[in-house]
Amino acid sequence: MIYLDNAATSFPKPPQVLRAVAGVMMQPFGNPGRGGHKAALRAGRVTDACREAVAELLGGVPERVIFTLNCTDALNMAIRGLLHRGDHVLVTHDAHNAVMRPLAGLEQRGEITLSVLRANENGLIAPEAISEAVQPGTALCVLTHASNVTGTVQPVRALIAAAHGFGIPVLLDAAQSAGTLDLKDTGADMIAMPGHKGLLGPMGTGILYVGENVSPRPLREGGTGSASESVHQPDILPDRYESGTLQLPAIAGLLQGARFVRTHGAAIHEYETYLIDKLRSRLSAIPEVTVYGDGEAPRVGVLSFNLQGRECAEIADLLDRRGFCLRGGLHCAPCMHRWLGTQGTVRASVGPFSTEAEIDSLGDAIAQIVQVR
Ligand SMILES: Cc1ncc(COP(=O)(O)O)c(C=O)c1O
Repeated sequence: MIYLDNAATSFPKPPQVLRAVAGVMMQPFGNPGRGGHKAALRAGRVTDACREAVAELLGGVPERVIFTLNCTDALNMAIRGLLHRGDHVLVTHDAHNAVMRPLAGLEQRGEITLSVLRANENGLIAPEAISEAVQPGTALCVLTHASNVTGTVQPVRALIAAAHGFGIPVLLDAAQSAGTLDLKDTGADMIAMPGHKGLLGPMGTGILYVGENVSPRPLREGGTGSASESVHQPDILPDRYESGTLQLPAIAGLLQGARFVRTHGAAIHEYETYLIDKLRSRLSAIPEVTVYGDGEAPRVGVLSFNLQGRECAEIADLLDRRGFCLRGGLHCAPCMHRWLGTQGTVRASVGPFSTEAEIDSLGDAIAQIVQVR
């Protein structure tokens, strides 16, 4: 099996991630923050170390690293925790439904209004798009760092600076960039990311980084193991946002994944871009194939394509039968497909352990599928 769906979740994970998950299941680890016995303290050291490793990747402070279930959970915490009735929100054409659905739900209930920022023909957003769309009640700007459909990377530092020029806080969806692109000094007020994609941790992990200038309302309240004399949710971080037992085995794996990308992240990005550019050149040479996204724009290891006159689901299915795991469809990004003018695409997304031979075989398989109708 050739796995090329790393944008959905990464596979394989580094061996130390697997060992860490198993280690927590096989030895006595207690509930982190609950109890003063050795097993609970040992568990607390794992969560502390993971917060530190992630904070280092972000150039942030550990207590502002909030563990979530996935990136969707982190985005919901930020969006629904921060917005108030009457707010106006800026969003982008490349937003995933993890951003769009919470926003569209609030809009449908009449609580907020939304504007989509204008993008250039290459899919990039310029800082002027923010000044054009801003309104007196604009309370949040949600940016997607890298598209999960085309892999195009937005100039987020310039966009965040532009939003801050109007006093607007920014939530950055780093689902497709965390682990490969540098997330230090982006200026984002909140960063949402999965632990199970580029950070190479297990499914069931995500992070919301909450910066100093924002304080979303917690969506989940309950026991934190701290301030137990009070029936009210504590204000201290990260406890304010982390009620209930954490997913310790998965967090132990995420710690190892975060350490791995801390050492290799830049090289991983270079390698993944090399592989995806190789695939782009191969596919671009086949007249029946349309490849989407600007090959010159900054990018991550994600590429979408279609075959003339064929449904993307059919192509993904034919590839699956040949042993390739690629995703066909809308990739939960309907606005992006409206912008591209597509009904869906086939998506290949590489990881640090993908190989050139796999990319060559995929190119061969697509060339064969084009021949056979
Ligand atoms: C850009 C983007 N945002 C958010 C998400 C949601 O991530 P998760 O599956 O961890 O909830 C994804 C998932 O593919 C994504 O690509």
